[in-house]
Amino acid sequence: MNIPFTYGKIVDELDFTDRLKETAQLVSSFQSLTNTAIISPRRWGKSSLVAKAVKKIEHKQDAILFVRINIFKCENPQEFYELYAKKTMEEMSSSAESLLANAKEFISRLLPKLSLSDPSGQYEIALGVNIKDNPIEEDILNLPQQIATKKKKKVVVCIDEFQQIGEFPDTIKFQKILRNHWQEHKDVAYILYGSKKHMMLNIFGNNSSPFYRFGDMMFIEKIANEEWKKFIVTRFKDTGKTIKAETAGYLAEQVENHPYYVQQLAQYAWLRTKKTCTEEIVDSALQAMLYSLNLQFVNLMDSLTEKQRNFLCAICEGATNFSSAETLRHYRLGTSGNIRILKNALLKRDLIDVTGKKIQIQDPLLKRWIIEEYSKIG
Ligand SMILES: Nc1ncnc2c1ncn2[C@@H]1O[C@H](COP(=O)(O)OP(=O)(O)OP(=O)(O)O)[C@@H](O)[C@H]1O
Ligand SMILES: [Mg+2]
Repeated sequence: MNIPFTYGKIVDELDFTDRLKETAQLVSSFQSLTNTAIISPRRWGKSSLVAKAVKKIEHKQDAILFVRINIFKCENPQEFYELYAKKTMEEMSSSAESLLANAKEFISRLLPKLSLSDPSGQYEIALGVNIKDNPIEEDILNLPQQIATKKKKKVVVCIDEFQQIGEFPDTIKFQKILRNHWQEHKDVAYILYGSKKHMMLNIFGNNSSPFYRFGDMMFIEKIANEEWKKFIVTRFKDTGKTIKAETAGYLAEQVENHPYYVQQLAQYAWLRTKKTCTEEIVDSALQAMLYSLNLQFVNLMDSLTEKQRNFLCAICEGATNFSSAETLRHYRLGTSGNIRILKNALLKRDLIDVTGKKIQIQDPLLKRWIIEEYSKIG
């Protein structure tokens, strides 16, 4: 029997729930060619959402071509350009013949030594030249617009793990090049998203950054408890087991409705359930999950300074007025001038989220682990 809950992968079809509003909004951005940056903390479902929205209109709307690129492995502009050219060509082409024809038409001038390889049954372009030696690398950025013009179609370029460009050498210069080219493209939209919220906000929300006001900023929310209830009940039912809506709601609440963790906890609970899932089963599944994360969290805490660890504990225990003498002393945070430094260091690591005066721990299980385990030993 297939396990009905999935985590750590892009989810689709029966594994995907809710997000109707966000999907509609993205589809409308595709149609109106509105550049969009999608921002959320880790593992709330950005990649799955884009995949869903693309799938929704990809087959219906022949007039839009999609290019999907994940730049996670790119470490510098050269690698970016190379992947960009390769993916653009591959995604434009439905067969090996059209890939070859498109490559000849669009990139043979840029990359004369390209060839086709078929390592895994799927045709792939092998670029025979080192892009570094080519002075026309930036022309690659114009490929989507060039294709849009030639084929009389709209092109939507979706780039996942976009924050990676923030790690490139000379990143600001590179960002300026991207923005200068992209803003000229009348028939192309850029949908940019990534797993590091802090870096994404730096790229898009900072008024001195080249990407400031590049397009819409879409902040996605967690999935509501009511939606999780329906989803979990249905997935149990589909596989011959049962869970009450109330228990399903309790399950999602334990991990604060965090999409990745709800699916993980639901899977752990489902595996422990013979026929009917109870709150006791959910509790024991949660303990197993915390146990499996223990080492990861211990290592994480080890990588922080003592004051950073104390600050995390203070947040977990509900402290709010961090500059008060009492809080500073109780949690051994040093002077009040330290708070800003601690906050920035933890923000940079994407461990906390700050909205106005409110500071929250991003990872609900880290929070629970700190309260239940770390505070006892720390
Ligand atoms: N709409 C959804 N319905 C059900 N589960 C979801 C949904 N979106 C996300 N999830 C759960 O969250 C997990 C992470 O989703 P996804 O990889 O799309 O998030 P992400 O925001 O792109 O993550 P990252 O920040 O690591 O890039 C999925 O594997 C799945 O378990
Ligand atoms: Mg992702």
